[in-house]
Order: sequence, then structure tokens, then C-alpha cells
Amino acid sequence: MLEAKKQGLVIYDLARDYGLGKAQKMFGKFAEEIGGENIIISAKYTPFTHYKKDCVRKSLAKDLADFKRSYVDIYWLHLPTDIDQHLAEIIELYKEGKIRNIGVSNFTLEECRLSKRILDKAGIQLYGVQNHYSLISREWEKNGLLDWCKENGISFWAWAVLEEGMLTDPRVKTKFSLMKFFMNRQKRKMRELYKVMIAVAKRHDITVPQVAEAYCANKGVVPICGCRKPKQVSELADAVNIKLTSGEIRKLEEAADKSGAKVLGADIFRMFVRKKRR
Ligand SMILES: NC(=O)c1ccc[n+]([C@@H]2O[C@H](COP(=O)([O-])OP(=O)(O)OC[C@H]3O[C@@H](n4cnc5c(N)ncnc54)[C@H](OP(=O)(O)O)[C@@H]3O)[C@@H](O)[C@H]2O)c1
Repeated sequence: MLEAKKQGLVIYDLARDYGLGKAQKMFGKFAEEIGGENIIISAKYTPFTHYKKDCVRKSLAKDLADFKRSYVDIYWLHLPTDIDQHLAEIIELYKEGKIRNIGVSNFTLEECRLSKRILDKAGIQLYGVQNHYSLISREWEKNGLLDWCKENGISFWAWAVLEEGMLTDPRVKTKFSLMKFFMNRQKRKMRELYKVMIAVAKRHDITVPQVAEAYCANKGVVPICGCRKPKQVSELADAVNIKLTSGEIRKLEEAADKSGAKVLGADIFRMFVRKKRR
């Protein structure tokens, strides 16, 4: 966290279901130690169940107590369950000054359009969409969501830009994780893509994961990366300023499409979305 602050990366993306609230407490302590000003907090409400009155209010109150702040900078509705009701409560909290910007996460284009209509009615701009996007998972670009965001001045944040470590250098040994173990089969499909990534990395004197991060930034997408080490943070800070050529982008995309590798899937969390009540 300290390295991120040093590098000028001041946005921290959290949700209560990541680490069961532990990150919020760590973050509050960190912000207190360094003086919390100029830190942008991005937090979320995850509706695992149907809407219940005051559910967002209660969750945000816990967040704010942990952050030791009276507001969050960006607040995302993490899943498209009972969109109208959840957004109505988020709008109330926005009007009370507890939320500065509203975003939606894991939403389809249709669900984003609906959210925008709801927010427009309240006179609030939809701040952003936070979905899964990476070099090998570009469904949201292909189906028009990315363009729709750009046309409407809505920022698009990508999670799992490194596909949980799959879009990193295959020659570098990393710590074992169950996720990586299950995904290793995909690595065989990605041999040609790795070759292109290594060539681009060489040309810019950067690392392979930086190519994946720079790719997103060059597509006008905000890459959210799961940096576990200070070095990964400084690499990310540098990567977002690297200008790839249109030829490099085309070669990366061609190799990614040819690989047929599917790691997480663009809409992996659809299974958690509750069906509309009749
Ligand atoms: N909105 C949503 O539904 C949603 C869902 C998931 C995630 N997110 C957000 O997206 C963030 C990132 O997701 P993620 O952590 O799951 O996936 P990720 O960024 O694709 O992958 C994280 C892994 O990449 C490796 N890594 C990171 N930087 C690296 C670098 N410079 N060089 C080499 N390896 C590097 C780390 O591996 P090692 O452990 O081997 O170092 C880490 O375990 C989360 O922290 C969260 O804020 C949002």
C-alpha cells in the first residue's frame, strides 16, 4: 500500500467479500498512519441475496467505520441483482454525501443502460463500469459495452487484467496457488501469445505482465491489478504510461484470439445474480 502511495497510485479497490472485511480494517489503519488525504477509496456493495431495506446503508456504515472516513469516493453495486432497489438506496446515500461517485460492476450492456437511466432520473452521472477484461477476455469490447462507456463519458475499469497470474511471464516461477494449478492447462494454448508478449516486452524494455497492463491502458481501460508485492506496484505505475503501437496491439489481439484460451470468462459471476422476483 505504501509503495502504491509513493508511486502516485492512490486508488484502492475493496469489497467486504474480499477477505471478509479484513482489508477495510487494514486500510483504515494504513490511512491513519500516513494521513488519509489524497487517497481514493473504491468500495462495493455485493448483493448476494435479494434486496432488503437498508442493506446497503448497513454495509456502507461498516465500511466507513473501518475506513475512519465519512464518505467513499466511488461505490459500486457489485452484482446486477434487484438493480432498481439497490440503486435507489445508493442514490439516497449519495445525496447524504456518503458516496461521491456511483458505479456498477459485472453488469451487461443492457443492465448498464438501465442503471444509467435510473441515475439520470436522479440527476447523477453513472461514474463507471467495473467488469472482467483482459487481453484474452475482450467480450465487453466485442459486444459494444466499452464503446458505450466511452460515448457516455463513463469510465471502464478492468479486473483480473493479469488473469490471476496467467498473463505473466511463463519463464518466471511464481508462488503456488490453487487457482494457478487449475489454470495451468490454458498456458499450453497461450504459447504463441507469450511469444508476442515477450517480443513486445523486449522492444519497450518492460516485463511481460507490464505488456498486459499497458495493453489495457492503451485501450482506454483502467487496469485494476492484484499487486501483492511492492515491485508489482511500481511495474503497474510504469506500465500505464507505455505507448504501444497499433501494430503491436493488433499482433497481441490476433495471438490472443488464436489461442482460444478462456481463463475466467467475462461474466463469471452471473451465477450469483438473483433472478427477478415475479
Ligand atoms: N469487481 C469485481 O467483481 C472484481 C472481481 C475480482 C477482482 N476485482 C478487483 O481486481 C483486482 C485484481 O484482481 P485479481 O488479483 O483477482 O487478479 P489479477 O490482477 O489478474 O492477478 C493477480 C495476480 O497477478 C500477479 N501479479 C500482479 N502483478 C504482477 C506483476 N507486476 N508481475 C507478475 N505478477 C503479478 C500476482 O501473482 P503472485 O501472487 O504470483 O505474485 C497476483 O496473484 C482485485 O484486487 C479487486 O480489487 C474485482
